[in-house]
Amino acid sequence: MATDRSGADARAAELAAALVRDELRGFPAYTVAYPEGITVKLDANELPFPLPPDVAAELARELAAVDLNRYPDAEHDELRAEIASGLGVDPDSLVCGNGSDEIIGLLINTFARPRPGRARAAVAYPVPTFAVFGGAALAAGCEQVEIPLEADFTLDGERLERAIAAARPNLVFFARPNNPTGTLWPSRQVAEVARAHPDMLVVSDEAYAAFAGDSMIGMTAELPNLLVMQTLSKTGLAGLRIGYLHAAPAILAEVDKVRMPYNIGALNQRASLWILRHCRPLLAERCAQVVRERERLAASMATMPGVRAFPSQANLILFRVGEPGDGRATATWKAMCRRGVLIRSFDRPGPLSGCMRVTIGSAAENDRFLSALADALAA
Ligand SMILES: Cc1ncc(COP(=O)(O)O)c(C=O)c1O
Repeated sequence: MATDRSGADARAAELAAALVRDELRGFPAYTVAYPEGITVKLDANELPFPLPPDVAAELARELAAVDLNRYPDAEHDELRAEIASGLGVDPDSLVCGNGSDEIIGLLINTFARPRPGRARAAVAYPVPTFAVFGGAALAAGCEQVEIPLEADFTLDGERLERAIAAARPNLVFFARPNNPTGTLWPSRQVAEVARAHPDMLVVSDEAYAAFAGDSMIGMTAELPNLLVMQTLSKTGLAGLRIGYLHAAPAILAEVDKVRMPYNIGALNQRASLWILRHCRPLLAERCAQVVRERERLAASMATMPGVRAFPSQANLILFRVGEPGDGRATATWKAMCRRGVLIRSFDRPGPLSGCMRVTIGSAAENDRFLSALADALAA
């Protein structure tokens, strides 16, 4: 017989409301829409290709040998060494996170000391950008400093400098390329910020670096306050949740105080290590394929009346349909869902009004996207 939980649930709701931190009230949790009937999933910036079956079978044999009764390597030494060798950096300049999402939270929680005379530490980032920067800053009780991009999503140096001078943030995050706009802000511009503000941590979040061929890793020796984050998620391994941070060991020593022990599971460590050792050329070729598809998609979208696609260096294209506020984008998104194609809508008041974002898929998925978009716009 089912127990009646209504009384307990009501008391739990009262308790949660009484104890939750003020800044979290009214803040929505991150949710992922997944309407029924979707057969083409182009909403989450994943790589569209699974591992080939023979590779997956070999990996399964490798994973069967992992001792699940034991905790994983807390320092993930082998994985760090493998990633470091690919990047050409010292393993001691790397720490892994459960996705780069975790690293964003770790950085903000670690370096959240308010500046003298300020009640809270500030965390800055150009907007629109990846939602986790703001969410993690809010969850850590920091001031969120949003620096508006220009209408074409470029970064104005003077506006950036004024915002930083006024807010004096502890950390500034630059997603390079940016999500959801796909824009690649020049490394020179970000390096200038790091040079001009040696008392601030400047983070180049390079989740999409594989599609842009651009990284600031080579600049970290010259700029001790420059930190670089990357991830395996976008290059075919989103399910493994492996992100990493490259920074000076003194910075990582502080981050390690906040990082939970055993933050990377044993299966995730072994799988990512094995895949990096055996499949790097395969992953690289697939990313190159996505870049070729991105250019094909951009060229097709450029010919569609009423569609404005923004230039992208990532595995995604942001585009606007209709005019901001006319509701056309939302109607188009719904019509595409009915045709089985899921993309991400950002159509709400603000700089992304009228905008949607498509993740670059396989050639067949991209064709489905193009025809669903054309149909939806004609409807
Ligand atoms: C700019 C940016 N940074 C970080 C992440 C998070 O990546 P991960 O899967 O490694 O947590 C994303 C994911 O979409 C992203 O767009």
